[in-house]
Amino acid sequence: MLETSGSPGPGAGRRRRRSSSRVTAGADAIGQLVPERDSAPSIALKQRHLLGIEGLSRGEITLYLDTARAFAEVSRRPIKKVPTLRGKTIVNFFMEPSTRTRSSFEIAEKRLSADTLTFSPASSSVTKGESLLDTARNLEAMSPDMIVIRHCASGAPHFLARHCGPHIVNAGDGWHEHPTQALLDAFTIREKKGRIENLRIAIIGDLNHSRVLRSNIFLLLTMGADVVVSGPPTLIPVGLRELGVSVTLRVDEAVEGADVIMMLRIQKERQSGAAFPSEREYFNLFGLTRERFSRARPDAIIMHPGPMNRGVEIDSALADGPASVILEQVTNGVAVRMAVLYLLAGGTIGEIAS
Ligand code: CP
Repeated sequence: MLETSGSPGPGAGRRRRRSSSRVTAGADAIGQLVPERDSAPSIALKQRHLLGIEGLSRGEITLYLDTARAFAEVSRRPIKKVPTLRGKTIVNFFMEPSTRTRSSFEIAEKRLSADTLTFSPASSSVTKGESLLDTARNLEAMSPDMIVIRHCASGAPHFLARHCGPHIVNAGDGWHEHPTQALLDAFTIREKKGRIENLRIAIIGDLNHSRVLRSNIFLLLTMGADVVVSGPPTLIPVGLRELGVSVTLRVDEAVEGADVIMMLRIQKERQSGAAFPSEREYFNLFGLTRERFSRARPDAIIMHPGPMNRGVEIDSALADGPASVILEQVTNGVAVRMAVLYLLAGGTIGEIAS
């Protein structure tokens, strides 16, 4: 959730719901920050960090999505750069590999005119045993305004938020959350379907190791979707039903009548044992095959956060076919991350000048 420190308990944001009445659909251009005459500070995010989706209200999620829509317009222009974060310094602190998230944050930062530094373990003193806290404090000593962190340890962004001054953005922590992925998924669903409420959304795959799953469950339920999840019984964590989703071991049942099918990657690097006999068997039993996809609504869309294991969790032809919005998710990630950085820096959607 967006917060001042630490992580509150589940549902805290829902208890603190704020009015979204001043959230307006995105203005169609972004030039520079200008004073908002009838500014309502409550609609600017009060929280300093984006650590997760859990606890965000519907109004806060809508604010992110509406602001991203305005930035998507900017990204379609011939000149994509705006001076909004000129003079701000952002450190991208990526302690796990990433293609989409890291590039997307870097592009978003450059389009907002921020100064950026990208930091990876191979090129840092982490290889010499420096702790997360010492590394972060040394980065902080150089006065960045924001730190975007990806880390294999669940809770690492929350730890930084408690101990460091800059705004912290979670770019994926362990098996916990990946909030900007869920926001870009929601943005894509809204662009394609016009709404999220009352859609049947099937999320299928390695549920146990997926931070994307957790962030999406929090977001989609808050926005009123009907969420069903499925995957191998060995990869379904306990307690999912308690979050408010339907759980089925039959992928065919999950896909039946779905508006949106979100496939999750088999996280080979996080498997500790043989959760399924072979990749071929996984595809036959749990993968998105053409036969299985025919059970979804005729206008269903296929999503995947990437990276994909083609022929394991998804038929390659479906991944490249007309129902797939997988590359549009990547495109939308830039606008969503621009919105996150902009709002955390204190921008409001009302300050976006046309
Ligand atoms: N979706 C996602 O997080 O991809 P990367 O690991 O490439 O950033």
